[in-house]
Amino acid sequence: MGTECNRAPGRLGVDETELGRRLKAQIQADGPMTFREFMAQALFAPDLGFYSKGPALGARDGPFNTNSLFPAFAFALARAVERAEAVLGEPLRIVELGGGTGELASRILKNLTEPHEYVIVEKSPGLRAKQESLGLRPVSHPSDLPPAPSFVFGNEVLDALPVNRVMGEETGELLEIYVALDQEGKFVQHLAEPSTPLLAKRLAEEGISLGRGQIAEINLGLEEFVAEVASLISMGYLLFIDYGDEATALYHYTRRNGSLRCFYKQKHAYDPFDRVGEQDITADVDFTAIEGSALKEGLMKAGKVSQGLWLENVGIHQYKEQATNADQAQDEIFQLVSPARLGSAFDVLAFKTRGLPDAPGFS
Ligand SMILES: C[S@@+](CC[C@H](N)C(=O)[O-])C[C@H]1O[C@@H](n2cnc3c(N)ncnc32)[C@H](O)[C@@H]1O
Repeated sequence: MGTECNRAPGRLGVDETELGRRLKAQIQADGPMTFREFMAQALFAPDLGFYSKGPALGARDGPFNTNSLFPAFAFALARAVERAEAVLGEPLRIVELGGGTGELASRILKNLTEPHEYVIVEKSPGLRAKQESLGLRPVSHPSDLPPAPSFVFGNEVLDALPVNRVMGEETGELLEIYVALDQEGKFVQHLAEPSTPLLAKRLAEEGISLGRGQIAEINLGLEEFVAEVASLISMGYLLFIDYGDEATALYHYTRRNGSLRCFYKQKHAYDPFDRVGEQDITADVDFTAIEGSALKEGLMKAGKVSQGLWLENVGIHQYKEQATNADQAQDEIFQLVSPARLGSAFDVLAFKTRGLPDAPGFS
């Protein structure tokens, strides 16, 4: 039998949406759903999910602001591609994972000296339409692309993959947090036996034991995602730029409430049951799990550094030389590189196929 978790008073599902009503009907019919299922629907339900609708993705509030707002970020990514090509001596197909509105892709293409094949793997039909309207080429799934020499990267895509949520028990066992309804028909968290032994297996493999009452998000979709993406790269590099940590830090006992958070109209929001389908839901990425998945696919780790250092290594400071407004260029670089801003909020985690030299920005 499960138990209901306490939730902050006054935050029970404000602004009910059409998608919220549908999910409630589903729970009434089938019983509690995992948080992963809830989050997948909230973000990707056809027509009603946050991403499916093709939102305007802008700045996020606080330290979780987005890189793609800044043209200097696109400039630096273009330099990274060209450095990789210079070292390998051949052109690479660029594959962007989760391209959002397509603005980053458009800017990268403008910053490249030579024309390139550039494909976006984008799950959201609404965002694919936006990308197409900018003359870009999106596909819905990595399997739509043949393997080729590639530079594959994803900026803030891993944090958008749906997660299960668990809570540690005194015995060292896990309970899973499901989404259920209370007697008034409001969404409520519900603790019960885990839906799959893979949750405990993941933590055990990472040597993690959660404290009593400690909440954690576990992304069981990472392995499949990394495997699909790795299969695109006959030779080349794979880079993830995201916020996250190694498992020992991510699941440290001091992080008792996990890392799940929401964004509504670019502001931090705290309750995933509010405005279902109207707000973004995200969680920190488990870099240990990403690395394990990539190595299993035969890739080699090419390095992990803070975003600030990586951007400097690939030559972001050259952005000033070609900018029309030097002060603005300097400010953008500061926002992206400074550890007090985005420079240490994000990390760059890179992999390469066997036998290649270091990934750009890591030597
Ligand atoms: C937080 S947004 C980041 C958008 C963009 N990279 C940027 O930096 O502005 C996450 C993006 O990943 C996409 N996405 C999420 N899961 C995906 C998946 N499994 N395959 C492809 N795209 C996905 C979303 O639709 C969205 O475009």
